[in-house]
Amino acid sequence: MGRVAVVTGGTTGIGAATSLALKAEGYTVCANYLGNESAATAFGQSSGLPVFEWDVASFDSCAKGIADIQAKHGPVDVLVNNAGITRDSMLHKMTLEQWRSVIDIDLGGCFNMCRAVIEGMRERKFGRIINISSINALSGQAGQTNYAAAKAGMIGFTKALALETASRGITVNAIAPGYTNTAMVAAVRADILQTIIDSVPVKRLGTPEEIARGVVFLASDAAGFITGATLSINGGKYMA
Ligand code: CAA
Repeated sequence: MGRVAVVTGGTTGIGAATSLALKAEGYTVCANYLGNESAATAFGQSSGLPVFEWDVASFDSCAKGIADIQAKHGPVDVLVNNAGITRDSMLHKMTLEQWRSVIDIDLGGCFNMCRAVIEGMRERKFGRIINISSINALSGQAGQTNYAAAKAGMIGFTKALALETASRGITVNAIAPGYTNTAMVAAVRADILQTIIDSVPVKRLGTPEEIARGVVFLASDAAGFITGATLSINGGKYMA
């Protein structure tokens, strides 16, 4: 049995590619999802990976989800906080619901999930936490005050937790993907998306697999000296 990895939002997009890439490296992967039952079922069947439904915005659901996984598969060694949503709107039109839902899921989910695994990782003196942030946390993006704030919050969270856990064999890092070929990006209006792609130096979207390779590296023993870092994988669009 390999190390146990949990990937939130792990049945679609970057999360699905990450689940598959970790499985290929020998991890026992548990993929979390919420809502999209048909995609999760299809992913579970095609990958052979167990899927678990809970809402990362719920503190109690995260605690229960991790307890269920640990009862079935053993202690969680690797956590990938990938689950996230966008609710794009210019601030002058943004509703409180659009603000809160993105903060609660994207940033609150990171807290809820880390809180559920951190005591066990500290006791066992090993852990890998990889938080999927965004290029737009670093660069800003018109129409995304909520998302940029949540994703930038994940980077500060990453650095603080890295300091807390460095002496316990736990590394905590972020990845800041650029525009990647997922349903989230496909939802951007076509003319706006084309302008964005034209502005990427490599002139294309990233693939979910290209982001997943970064996760696999940060989860590995070879990355044990890397903590508190943010790895940009963005085709050169923003160089922090
Ligand atoms: N910079 C500056 N101003 C901009 C702008 C930009 N990039 N984009 C739009 N504006 C301005 C427009 O010129 C317009 O100005 P006026 O009112 O003076 O005419 C104003 O903002 C309103 O623009 P829209 O007509 O586009 O407004 P809308 O309400 O129809 O749409 C929006 C707003 C939904 C945010 C839309 O602009 C949009 O989808 N933008 C793209 C947002 C984006 O990149 N999202 C990324 C999603 S994928 C993701 O987030 C994954 C990841 O991690 C990378």
